[in-house]
Amino acid sequence: MYDMIMKKRSGAEHTTDEIRFIVEGFTKGEIPDYQMSAWLMCVYYKGMTHDETCALTHAMAQSGDQLSLAAIHGVKVDKHSTGGVGDKTTFIVAPILASLGVPVAKMSGRGLGHTGGTIDKLEAIPGFCVSIPEEEFIEHVNSMKLALVGQTGDLAPADKKIYALRDVTATVDSLPLIASSIMSKKLAAGADAIVLDVKCGSGAFMKNEADAKALAQIMVDIGKSAGRTCYGVITDMNEPLGCKVGNALEVIEAVQVLAMKDVKAYLKPDLSLVEDNNTSTREGYDRHGIHRLLTVSLTLAAYMYMAAGKSDDFEAAKAQCEKAIESGAALDKFKEFVEAQGGDGSYIDDVNKFRLAANCVPIVCEEDGYLAACNTSEVGMVNLILGGGRATKDSTINLGVGLDIRKHLGDVVRKDDVLAYMYIDDMGVFEEAKKRLLGAYTVEQKQIKPEKLVKDIVA
Ligand code: URA
Repeated sequence: MYDMIMKKRSGAEHTTDEIRFIVEGFTKGEIPDYQMSAWLMCVYYKGMTHDETCALTHAMAQSGDQLSLAAIHGVKVDKHSTGGVGDKTTFIVAPILASLGVPVAKMSGRGLGHTGGTIDKLEAIPGFCVSIPEEEFIEHVNSMKLALVGQTGDLAPADKKIYALRDVTATVDSLPLIASSIMSKKLAAGADAIVLDVKCGSGAFMKNEADAKALAQIMVDIGKSAGRTCYGVITDMNEPLGCKVGNALEVIEAVQVLAMKDVKAYLKPDLSLVEDNNTSTREGYDRHGIHRLLTVSLTLAAYMYMAAGKSDDFEAAKAQCEKAIESGAALDKFKEFVEAQGGDGSYIDDVNKFRLAANCVPIVCEEDGYLAACNTSEVGMVNLILGGGRATKDSTINLGVGLDIRKHLGDVVRKDDVLAYMYIDDMGVFEEAKKRLLGAYTVEQKQIKPEKLVKDIVA
């Protein structure tokens, strides 16, 4: 291992065998943390070539269980988001694809820090089981095209061990290390086609578009070299996606989108919708936020449809996905999936049944102007302060708290307009949560044009 550290320190390229030696040795406990830490820091500074990154990904993917989806008919599609705030797109895209006959066999994670996790959100549905046996998982995908479970204990254990070390040695934000970490789990999970939603902005790992694009390209290249069809979609995370942030709240918002009958009306460009927002009542919802959520979801769904080989034209694929919502097929599929995994489907028929926090407090804007910037990870932290997120991986979370945000970047705001409704149980944290939420937004006198929602596609 000493020689490997020296080699990487000098900037030379490792062979595939050397990378395998490092990953296997560390996973078995034969290479100590201090040597692995030194090697990771060398990778951080010297980077990795395409071949090295692929070798690292494969070595980590092969370090534990690898799911075989061969028993599932058709091209199996997966989707991965690099993590953001208010990102509930999986609940929208997975049933769209399944209702169009595309098998979606998905493994998802729990939330940590300012980002939420798909698995936690699903547990807001009473009875929903996130850990079904592998045979049942495969049977569900075969019979109704959709199953979604938490990551199993032994999927890419090398990544788990290496990630824990990166976390405490300031080596998380290295492009080849992030790309290989994500792709090792995706490859081990067995899908034939993968759409990667690479978030970019103040709530994401990647703060700028160039880095997000570089990460997307590395991941797509890894996927292709493993024989998988891959697309990278770079999407904006300079504010939460949609309106709602919080576990039950995000499932509710996804169901509201799946229940839409007039999808096209919400796809018009953002700023034309700002004036007719319905933001001021608790029951209302904000068109601008829904527009953003719907646009990102339909883009991802269309690329998944294309990745499954069902179309080679984006607009045609997107039209199919819109139809799946408008016809009600995607919503029916979501309910079928929830019930198949033990969840109470009546919550999907009537989202008012979800248990939300005891208090719903409007947080109002303090001045007139235009909403100009959002510190998105800070909004995620507000959800954590309310109890809806995890500070450490063993924290328990409150599924009923969160935010329903009624103003978005570029919107006109007036003093006392509702910025967000805060769903809160423990009023002891209210002052801090309110202060941090208001502090996360910047109001200016000049209107800004929000960043493009879908910034680029990498294929
Ligand atoms: N997500 C992962 O799974 N791994 C990383 O390194 C970063 C984000």
